[in-house]
Amino acid sequence: MSLPARGLKVKNMASGRGRNQEVILKLGDVWKVYQMGEVKVPALRGVSVEIRRGDFVAIIGASGSGKSTMMNLIGCLDVPTKGSIFLKSKDISKMSESDLSSLRGKTIGFIFQQYNLIPSLSAFENVMLPLEFLEYDDSAAAKKAREILLLLGLGDKMSHRPTQLSGGQQQRVSIARSMVSDPEIILADEPTGALDSVTGKELMNILTKLWKEEGKTIIMVTHDLNLAKYAHTRIELKDGRIINVSQKPLAKILPG
Ligand SMILES: Nc1ncnc2c1ncn2[C@@H]1O[C@H](COP(=O)(O)OP(=O)(O)O)[C@@H](O)[C@H]1O
Ligand SMILES: [Mg+2]
Repeated sequence: MSLPARGLKVKNMASGRGRNQEVILKLGDVWKVYQMGEVKVPALRGVSVEIRRGDFVAIIGASGSGKSTMMNLIGCLDVPTKGSIFLKSKDISKMSESDLSSLRGKTIGFIFQQYNLIPSLSAFENVMLPLEFLEYDDSAAAKKAREILLLLGLGDKMSHRPTQLSGGQQQRVSIARSMVSDPEIILADEPTGALDSVTGKELMNILTKLWKEEGKTIIMVTHDLNLAKYAHTRIELKDGRIINVSQKPLAKILPG
């Protein structure tokens, strides 16, 4: 991740997978102004930032600073009032809705605070759902779903329905579902918001593992500085503007 003005030393942080090489997401002077009747609410006011493949980014800031707005734009769930957003070098403002939803489906996995699991389906079936839209064949889809559930420590919970799982387990099922199509980018908006602190820590360990071991690009929104510590790059928002960007030395987060 870098701001044009900062010249961050990303080269020294590269690992074997080409971490921090290619810019995967680029926002250029992005504005989002909500119209509330007669009143205009400027939620983002000229945000420019580059996020590199394989980074773990925390977007921090007080409530109302524009974090979720930024996340919705990054996730192609909303369009900016002004400015450009490039996802994998594609200008998303110039894409049709159907091309955009296909790019989004292939590229981005969302982890929400609400798990949005389907109550009548088992953990396994919930995780299978996204693959049904992506035209996987059944046995490849089942294999993928099983693998990701195992990776998240849910091997013995596959046939459980959401109500038969704890909050933390449900959150892990929702992560499995967001990961099963192997998205390059994982977006998480206040992902621990509904979890107790122990389960929240578990979730952070999972995100860290997906980042370290699977090479995912993770972008997480939080107002909790203790969670932001897990990330490599911190982007701080205030009143719709980026007021600070900082990075931890990778050696401190990725020993060896
Ligand atoms: N859909 C919306 N319509 C109108 N105003 C909104 C909407 N979503 C967010 N806002 C306003 O935009 C600002 C930023 O909100 P948000 O991005 O949700 O901040 P955060 O996630 O940091 O708490 C706030 O003032 C909020 O009230
Ligand atoms: Mg928010």
